[in-house]
This record gives sequence, structure tokens and C-alpha cells, in this order.
Amino acid sequence: MNKERVLSGMQASGKLHIGNLVGALKNWVALQDKYDCFYFVADWHALTTGYEKPSAIKESTMDLLVNFLAAGLDPDKSTIFIQSMVPQHAELHLLLSMITPLGWLERVPTYKEKQEQIQDKDLSTYGFLGYPVLQTADIIIYRAKHVPVGIDQLPHLELSREITRRFNYLYKEIFPEPEGLLTEFPKVPGTDGRKMSKSYGNAVYLSDPPEVVEKKILTMMTDPARKRRTDKGNPDLSPVHQLHRIFSSKEEIEYVADGCRTAGIGCIDCKRILIKNVFAYLEPIWKKRNELISNPDTLFDIAKKGSDKARHEAEKTMQMASEAMGLA
Ligand code: TRP
Repeated sequence: MNKERVLSGMQASGKLHIGNLVGALKNWVALQDKYDCFYFVADWHALTTGYEKPSAIKESTMDLLVNFLAAGLDPDKSTIFIQSMVPQHAELHLLLSMITPLGWLERVPTYKEKQEQIQDKDLSTYGFLGYPVLQTADIIIYRAKHVPVGIDQLPHLELSREITRRFNYLYKEIFPEPEGLLTEFPKVPGTDGRKMSKSYGNAVYLSDPPEVVEKKILTMMTDPARKRRTDKGNPDLSPVHQLHRIFSSKEEIEYVADGCRTAGIGCIDCKRILIKNVFAYLEPIWKKRNELISNPDTLFDIAKKGSDKARHEAEKTMQMASEAMGLA
């Protein structure tokens, strides 16, 4: 097996929404045949902002794991695991923390931004500053070459490359420098037209029952110019239309765009078509979710097997790292 290795993770600080699904998870699924993939739930990372209420992390971890599998990650193809079940991540994080200059961490743009944005939490902690160091350990503990991430994660990845180079330079060249694997993702708007995000309260979750999904779409924002049924609209200004572009057929996209411009159809008609298509997209995922949720033993078994496999790989790397540093 000499496929190149891919690694990616998602932080367990909330439920998975359809923005995560079409933006990241579906891409992970697509990479499974071409690469030796490692995908995990970053539960420790969730502590960096959620340390005051760690019990919420467990729930989110379960939700992410169920959705990974329901969306098509296949434990026979990929190594699917939970970060805290592989303690070597913490061990390598410790070693990397020794060689990472403070200035590098303070310069990461998301560090200051997030601290300013999130006012209700005290983020002046050692763990929060060290977020990218732990993330680096996550990646290089598997000597992964490619990291599928969104553009917003690139500064973290750049830092991971710097830390990796520093280790290789100080001790021994044992880690490949990880590279971002960027793919063109459709931007998924939330129900209010802003980017879909759990912190905006505008997300459609995979765990939402069909009637909730329906209601969220029915009350979604459209082109504000269409106040009355007879007002003409501009589909490019409607987040509903952006979702059509992701979930609907070419003919339907044309039909609703035309109907919007001419006031030939109303917003509810347009939304009904979207609901039908979102349902069709989500139905197999809902079905798989229900199966998994009603078989917690199977789920635990998958997490355990994946984590065992990951731990085995991670342990090999820790041996190499200890040897490189003359600690073995
Ligand atoms: N930072 C990622 C997120 O926001 C989660 C993550 C943790 C990650 N470690 C990683 C992503 C390593 C890619 C590689 O969800």
C-alpha cells in the first residue's frame, strides 16, 4: 500500500451542519480511494474554547462520528478515529511545544481575531495559544503529506510547516512538510444569508428532523426586494437560490431563476422545490444516521478499531521522534 497519506479533522464544538457536509466532508469521502486517509474528531481541540463545559464535547464527538459515517466515510477504506483515544497526539504536542517560539503563535491571525470575537470566554490560556501546535502534532504524527482544509485554515497549516521544518532541522529529517489540499467548495449560505455557521444560529444540521429542515428553509431569507408575490426579484441576491445551485438540477435552477426575475413563481414555490431536493440529498444520510444511532455498540466498535489502527501508526512515529531527539 503506497498511497500518499491524507489527514484531516473536525473540532468537536457543535453539531455538523450542511455547510460542513458539502464544504468538507463530501470532499473527504471523495479522497478515500486515491489516498490513505486518516480522519478524526478533534475533541481535545474543542477544549481550547470549551474548557468550562467539557460535557458538551462528548455529545458533539458522537454527532460528528455518526455523520462522518452517514455521509460516506468508510472504515474499511479510511482510518476513522477520535483524537483523545490516541494519546500520542498529546505526547508529540509536548515535544513540539518545546521548540515552537511564542512569537510564531502570537502572529497567527486567527489567534487575535478569535480572542476579540469570542467575548464571553476567557481565551487567554496556554491551550488556546497552542491550538496550532496540537494541530501540527495531529498531522505529523501520521507523517501525512496532504491536509484537506478550507482557505481559512491555511495560516495554521503554514505554521505547521514551520514547526515541522524546525524539528527536522534541529534533530533529524523525519517528518514530511504537510501541504494543504484545497478544493473548490461551494459556499453554503445559512438561513439568514450569511455564511452558514453554528455561531450565527443560521445552520441546518444533519441531526435536524425533516420537519425542522423544512421549516428552516420555508422561513429562509430571500431577495428582500420581493415583498409581495407580484414583486420581481433577483435570484443572485437570494440565499435560497445559492442553495438551489448546490442541490437542484440545471433545469430547476433555470426555472426558479426565471420565475424569480419575472415574478412567475413565488418564494414559497421556489422553496418547495429546494426542500424536495435537500430531502433527496439528505434522505440516505438520515437513514444511515438512524441505523448508527440505534446501534451504539457498532459505533463504538468502529471508533475503537480506527483509533487502535491510528495509535499503532502514531506509536511508530513517536519512536522515530524520540530516537531523532536522542531520548529513546
Ligand atoms: N482546526 C480544525 C477545525 O477547525 C480541526 C483540526 C484539528 C484539524 N487538527 C487538525 C484539521 C489537523 C486538519 C488537520 O475543525
